[in-house]
This record gives sequence, C-alpha cells and structure tokens, in this order.
Amino acid sequence: MSSSAYAEDAASGKNWTLRLGDACELLPKMPDNCVDLSVYSPPFASLYTYSPSLRDIGNCRSEAEFLEHYGYVIREKLRVTKPGRLSCVHAADITRLKSVYGAMSLHDLPGDIIRAHTDAGWLYFGRVMVQKNPQAQAIRTHSHALLFKTKNADSSKSRPAIGDSLLIFKKPGDAVVPVKTDCSNEEWIEWAAPVWLGIRESDTLNGRLARESADERHICPLQIGFIERCIRLYSNRGEAVLSPFAGIGSEVWAAVKLGRRGVGIELKESYWRLAVKYLQELEASPPDEKPPPPPSLPKPEKLVRGKRDRSWPQAKLQRLYGFSDEELTEMDSLLVGADSEVS
Ligand SMILES: C[S@@+](CC[C@H](N)C(=O)[O-])C[C@H]1O[C@@H](n2cnc3c(N)ncnc32)[C@H](O)[C@@H]1O
Repeated sequence: MSSSAYAEDAASGKNWTLRLGDACELLPKMPDNCVDLSVYSPPFASLYTYSPSLRDIGNCRSEAEFLEHYGYVIREKLRVTKPGRLSCVHAADITRLKSVYGAMSLHDLPGDIIRAHTDAGWLYFGRVMVQKNPQAQAIRTHSHALLFKTKNADSSKSRPAIGDSLLIFKKPGDAVVPVKTDCSNEEWIEWAAPVWLGIRESDTLNGRLARESADERHICPLQIGFIERCIRLYSNRGEAVLSPFAGIGSEVWAAVKLGRRGVGIELKESYWRLAVKYLQELEASPPDEKPPPPPSLPKPEKLVRGKRDRSWPQAKLQRLYGFSDEELTEMDSLLVGADSEVS
C-alpha cells in the first residue's frame, strides 16, 4: 500500500481498541457521551510532517486551515464526551522563522486551541505549564535564541525556552459519576500547581520500551508521566480514555496500564502498527507489582499552627520551590483552615 493511500483497520485487546483511519471520519461513528476523558497532542500545523496525506491535520498550509480542520475533531470530541468530563490537550507555542515571516517570533498555538474549544462549546477549565530545560531545548532545536553566544552578544535576541502547555477543557453539564482519584494529597499538591516540574523529556514510549525508532523520525511521543497525571487525576479505573491522534499509542498504553480502557485513532499506518505492537506487548506482560500506597498527609488535628512537623510532605516543596520556613508555616495554617472548613 502506498503511504498516501487512505486505509481503515482496527485492532483490539482486552481493554483497548486502536483504529487506523482519519479521526474526522471515525469520531462521527462513535456514539454520543461514550468517552470519560480524552488526553492527546494534536498534530500541530507545519511543525512536523507525519505523512503526505491531505487528511493529516499536520499538513494544513496555514494556521487558519489547521483550526478549521482540527475544529471538526473538537466538535465531535464534545459530542462523544460525557457531560461534566474533561479533555486534556497538550500544546506549545510555535516558532515563526525569519526566513518565512521576515522576523523571528512565536505563535500562540495554545491560545488558538483555547478559543477553538470555547467557540465549539467547551468550557476552558485549567492550564499547566510544563518546565523545560533551556539547554536541552537548545541542543534539540538548534535555536539561536537559546545559546550562551546570543545571550552574551545581545541578550534582547535571547528568549526563554518554550514550555509545553496542558490545556484542560470541560464539557458543560453535570457528571453522572464523580471521579474518585487515587492521587494522594502529596501528589495533588505538586500536580495542582500551575507548573509541572517532574516530567522527564525522555520518559516516552520509545524510551521506555527501548525499541528502534528509525521509521519514526518525525513523531514526538508525549511523555508518559504527563499522560499518567491526567489519567489518574481525571478518570476512574475502568473508564474510557480517548486519543483521537494516537501516534504510536502512548495515551492508550498509559490508560490500559492504569486500569482504564484505551481508545485510539491514528491516520498513519506505521504508527498504528507500532501502537498495536506496544499494546499487545503490554497485554502479554505480567502485571506490575502493586506499588505501596503513597504517604498521606497527617490528619489536620495533629498539626499545631506555627510548629511544622518535618515529616510533613511540604518539606519537599521547600526543596522544589525554595519556600522559606515562614511561608511554609503560613501554608500549614491555611491548609488546617481549609480542611476544617470542609469537615
Ligand atoms: C503529535 S502526534 C501524536 C503523538 C502521540 N501523542 C504519541 O505519543 O505517540 C499527532 C498524530 O496525529 C496523527 N494524525 C494527523 N492527522 C490525523 C487525522 N486526521 N486522524 C487521525 N490521526 C491523525 C499523526 O499521524 C500523528 O501521529
């Protein structure tokens, strides 16, 4: 089959389904209100070329065309999502090259994606920035704006590294089933922060499974740690997690690993085949040892205002963010107040 010919196919296992095909064709075939959560990274226009297909949303010739094409998926995603449930979209600013635009600048793709969702009827619900190392990004992207040389010659030509954004959208309406997350209070304090610090760049499916990736030069798999936080925060075990742009299957793989049902759609056959292989391998592998339960916060009544218990997990925040003792003491008393308000 030529790489540009359109093909549909499907593979499935105990808790997963991977459809080969165009999300614009396949989403409309899904019933209303069948998805509990979606997590994915859309194919950004002109950033990578995944395939020569005109159905590939990454091949749109302009930002306007990208938004028109992607807008169709955003509307169908709303229809298939259960009321009150969430969609987690990974996006980042796009660099505008001097050779194309006359001057080097950035384009606010996350802003476009937020407007496209709210125009389609989604509620904009939250945003997290993912910390990036500027030197690692300089090496990976060859960006002049991130070089010491540029900073030393004329710092106004340097800029910060581009962070990833997690954009969270909610379908209007009341959820029938509440999400009872298994995330501990300690994890929540880190994961509810507007900046995520612990996501490792190399924590991707290819990296984790150490498979050769010569055929997949253009794909940039989403970090498993990023996906796992979204799934554990915003879905229950046994629920359906959708990725309409499944790539090599990272979101579906993480969903199944975390005891959810994964549903993915991918246009490019070689990516879909790799995704199927990863899911089959996961299914055949012995289940992981159950991790020990995460430490929970001490009960509020055991805390004494002004006297910090050193085992209190916020000591970790002091290391991460450099809070002073006074700030941590203030935080403790705020937490005591918040907990007693709830009870
Ligand atoms: C950013 S990549 C997703 C990578 C994925 N998160 C992973 O970790 O493997 C976007 C994917 O969207 C796919 N794609 C582009 N247009 C599509 C369409 N119309 N329907 C389905 N998939 C499409 C591309 O082939 C590419 O694999």
